Amino acid sequence: MAIQWFPGHMNKAKKAIADRIKSVDMVIEMLDARLPASSENPLLAQLSKGKPKLKILNKQDLADNGRTAAWLEYYNNMPDTRAIALDSSEKGAHGKITQTCRAMMPNRGGIDKPLRVLICGIPNVGKSTLINGMIGKKSAKTGNEPGITKAEQRLFLADDFWLYDTPGMLWPKIIVEESGYNLAASGAVGRNALDEEEVSLELLDYLRRHYLPLLQERYQADKDPSSHWLDTDWLEWIAKKRGAILPGGRVNYQKAAENILTDFRAGQIGKITLETPSQWESWLKTARKREAELKALREARKAERKGKTPADGE
Ligand code: G4P
Repeated sequence: MAIQWFPGHMNKAKKAIADRIKSVDMVIEMLDARLPASSENPLLAQLSKGKPKLKILNKQDLADNGRTAAWLEYYNNMPDTRAIALDSSEKGAHGKITQTCRAMMPNRGGIDKPLRVLICGIPNVGKSTLINGMIGKKSAKTGNEPGITKAEQRLFLADDFWLYDTPGMLWPKIIVEESGYNLAASGAVGRNALDEEEVSLELLDYLRRHYLPLLQERYQADKDPSSHWLDTDWLEWIAKKRGAILPGGRVNYQKAAENILTDFRAGQIGKITLETPSQWESWLKTARKREAELKALREARKAERKGKTPADGE
């Protein structure tokens, strides 16, 4: 699915982050625990190379516990990286983050050497919820000091703990097709940029293959025959169950799609994670291979065009 979400301010945001990264000690990247790798920003990985990173798998209350554990292990095995899971509205989230950051950077702290941390995350990942909880009453925020861009905020979580909040930064291109769908299902993509019916069918296809009992329970479907249903059968069933029927008895697929997406986003179907580390690795491998093939094809066509004289073309 081609998702068009290429905001004009992306380059500006990218530059602001690239500049800020130079002067921070570490980076916090907020991820959606239901789609950790898809919610990572490849651009951020590039920009923050060599800086210690804390990956926060947020919305863990909506994610599959077993899969969250697998993702934590996956990230914690990466160099310069620590990962924790969180529900950003939970009590103690603030302390968990500051403690982890301090443990990662034992040489920073005290008024002379404040720990400077940059926090990034895709839209809707829960960054504002977390920051609002962290700010409390005591902290000040500034956006109009020298060296602080308008869109950026510096938050004083303690005298020696500064948090820089950056404007959202999106992807240059989503090459993994499954990521596009997972981001769309999670609610990270604006409604205008996606086809809800297509996204809901992809979601149903994944759920019927990996979380069938949860689907059956939520939508009160008999185990038999629903264990053999395809995504389209499920969408029709949900439409009927939810009264998404148009005059004349036709199925209102759009309405049914909205229903399933709303249910998923609110965690009504159950605790679900749309990707595992091994699935992700395999999707990425396929996507990179496809990109390389496309590039080779484009280059071959270009060379062919260049080699052609006008007479050849006649
Ligand atoms: P952003 O700044 O990264 O764009 O995200 P924001 O904090 O606005 O959060 C987006 C939505 O995700 C909000 O719901 C918020 O309540 C919810 N959220 C944030 N963190 C968590 C979490 O850890 N677990 C769960 N279950 N939800 C979380 P909303 O419906 O858009 O807004 P509201 O009705 O809560 O105000």
